Amino acid sequence: MARVIVTRRLPEDGLDPLLAAGHEVITNDEDRTFDAKALAAAARGADAIVCLLTDRIDATVLEAGAAGGRLRVVANVAVGYDNVDVATASRLGIAVTNTPGVLTETTADTTWLLILAARRLASDAEADLRAGRWAGWGFEDHLSLDVHGARLGLVGYGRIGRAVARRAAAFGMEVVHHTRHDTGEPGWTADLDDLVATCDVISLHVPLTDATHHLFDRERLARLRDSATLVNTTRGPVVDEEALADALHVGRLFSAGLDVYEREPAVHPRLLGAPRTVLLPHIGSATVGTRTAMARLAATNAAAVLAGERPPDLVTR
Ligand code: DGY
Repeated sequence: MARVIVTRRLPEDGLDPLLAAGHEVITNDEDRTFDAKALAAAARGADAIVCLLTDRIDATVLEAGAAGGRLRVVANVAVGYDNVDVATASRLGIAVTNTPGVLTETTADTTWLLILAARRLASDAEADLRAGRWAGWGFEDHLSLDVHGARLGLVGYGRIGRAVARRAAAFGMEVVHHTRHDTGEPGWTADLDDLVATCDVISLHVPLTDATHHLFDRERLARLRDSATLVNTTRGPVVDEEALADALHVGRLFSAGLDVYEREPAVHPRLLGAPRTVLLPHIGSATVGTRTAMARLAATNAAAVLAGERPPDLVTR
């Protein structure tokens, strides 16, 4: 029987694969966030950690796991795993897993929520109504830009990018995508700056790595059309938040829809006050069904490693 520490509260039946295998599963029913010390203690005393993107599993935590001599797997309940030092885990022989696939459609839905809301200025219009600023139907009030027929640029074309593209077909959009390597598919655009300068809606679907940190920096943001909408549902640091806030305030782009931020849960104060901006609190995969499926997949991954098998979603070598 292995000991598994789960760092946050998860849907009860999400942990079934570990319970069914007879493991001791220590849950965090109060859902308090583990600090660095608590994470290191968990790593030192457990065979597996099931963690969330809010847990920073850095070299100190992983080395505590190695020193404890038990830790075999870190199962992240997210598709993104920039919160885990994968290079150190690989060096120490600790498996790291993630949860791709099960959240694709829900995250694509959320991306569309932001595309529609940011393009049609839903947040500003609703705020006016709630604040009593709506004086009645006005021909030129709350004028926004169309989604149907617009040109959509996807930066990154993995599962979620493709799911966003499928939905775009129903809106009669022209869809192009940029990836570093040629996908060989219609719409591939080699030069990211070309895509940025020619699209009406740009949606980000690259993972956060050293190469994608501030991929949308001040200079690239300056290439956006002044009628463009930028949507980010991947990771906040892919965009330079300060530069985006500046661009929105001066009308350098039309609008933005964000679900992720550079320093979550903090949101840049100038973004909070930015016009034509829709802000969500990182809810991309937040449906009951998808969050349960993510927990189950993480538990399945951890159980596989503990059984000496290759887990379905291994990200370490
Ligand atoms: C992920 O899985 O990486 C999302 O950001 C949360 O669902």
